[in-house]
Amino acid sequence: MGFRTKQIHAGVTPDPVTGAILTPIYQSTTFVQDSVDDYMAKGFSYSRAGNPTVAAFEEKLAVLEGGVGATAYGTGMAATTAVMLALLDAGSHCVVSDVVYGGTHRFATRVMSRFGVEFSFVDTSDASNVAAAVRDDTQLVFTETPANPTLKLTDLAAVSEISKARGIPHVVDNTFLTPYYQRPLELGADLVIHSTTKYMDGHNATLGGGVVAATEELQQRLRFMQKSAGMIMSPQVAWLTLQGTKTLSARMDAQSANAMEVATFLESHPKVESVSYPGLESFAQHELAARQASGFGAMAWFEVKGGVEAGKKLMAAVELWSLAENLGSVESLITHPVTMTHGDMTPRERAAVGITDGLVRLSVGLEDAEDLIADLSQALDRV
Ligand SMILES: Cc1ncc(COP(=O)(O)O)c(C=O)c1O
Repeated sequence: MGFRTKQIHAGVTPDPVTGAILTPIYQSTTFVQDSVDDYMAKGFSYSRAGNPTVAAFEEKLAVLEGGVGATAYGTGMAATTAVMLALLDAGSHCVVSDVVYGGTHRFATRVMSRFGVEFSFVDTSDASNVAAAVRDDTQLVFTETPANPTLKLTDLAAVSEISKARGIPHVVDNTFLTPYYQRPLELGADLVIHSTTKYMDGHNATLGGGVVAATEELQQRLRFMQKSAGMIMSPQVAWLTLQGTKTLSARMDAQSANAMEVATFLESHPKVESVSYPGLESFAQHELAARQASGFGAMAWFEVKGGVEAGKKLMAAVELWSLAENLGSVESLITHPVTMTHGDMTPRERAAVGITDGLVRLSVGLEDAEDLIADLSQALDRV
C-alpha cells in the first residue's frame, strides 16, 4: 500500500460495536476485566499503560515510519525524555547533533547531566565526527535532521553505519520532514522521535510526541518507560492527531511548495543577507537533502540585515505571519530564535552552531503563497 492510503487507514478499523468509522475517544481510566484468569484479555488494563485510542495512533505512526511498534507521549519532549531515560545509564555518554531543538539541548545539559550522563555535541553533518566522538561508554547517538533552527542535515545512512558497527542505537528526531518525506529506519536508524505537535497534527491543536522502534527489544524498553514514568498521550490528543495525520501528505506537499516560493522571493531581497531552504540550489547540503528525503519540507530561515534590532522590528511588522513558537501547522509562523526558542543557550553556544542575531525562522503554512510573500515584503520595507 502507498503512503497516502496508509496515512488514512493504518491502525484504524470500524468500531466493532457501532461501526463508527472513526476510532472513538476511549475516555476511561480503567478497563473492567472478565476474570483474574483472563486478565487483559481485551488488551487493556489502565490508561497509563495503554489506551485503545492511543494504540490506534501508535499503530498508524509505526506503519508510516516502517517500525515494529511505536509509543505515544504527552509532548515531543516527553518522547525525547523517554528515549534518553530508557537508553542512557547513569554515568554513560551520548553523542548529539550540535544543532538540535533548544528543549533537547536543555534536557540533556540541565537534567540528564545531573545523573552523570555526558553529552558530546558534535557536527553530525560530517559523519566522521560521530566516529571520532564515540567512546566505550557511549550508549546513544542522537541526531536531528533537518535540525531546528538552522536546518543543518545529517547523513542518516552514514551515521547509522557508524553506530551499527559499534552496536550503539541511533535515534533520529524526524519532526521536520515526517515519514512522508524521510524514513530514518529505512536508512539504518534504530529509533525515530516525533513531536506530533508539529506536522502530524498540523493544526496547532495538540501537544504530543511519538517514538518508533526498529526492533521489538527497543519497543519494549520504550513501552516500559512510557508506563513507568507516566508519559502517555491522552485519548483526546490521540484522536485529534489521528485525524490530522490523514492529510499529512497533502499538507506537506502544499506547504513545501509555498516554502519554495517564499524562499525564492527572499533570496533576491536587498534587506536579506542569506536564505536557507533545503530546496534551493544555493543550500549547502542540497544534494544530501534531495538524496535522503523525498521532499524539502516547509521550514526555512533567513538572515535579515541589521542583527537583533532588525529581527525585532521585522517581528513587529508582520501581519499575516503569526509571531509564535510552534511550527508545522497550517498557519504560517515566524520566530526569532535568539530572543525566543533558543534564548536558553549562551551567546557563545549559539554562535558556535550558527544561530546568529538576525536569524529569522519561518514555518510556512497552507495560505496562498502570494499573501505570505506580500506580508513579508511590506514588513521588510519597514525594517
Ligand atoms: C525538532 C523538535 N523536536 C522536539 C520538539 C519538542 O516537541 P514538543 O514541543 O511537542 O514537546 C520540538 C519542538 O519545537 C522540535 O522542534
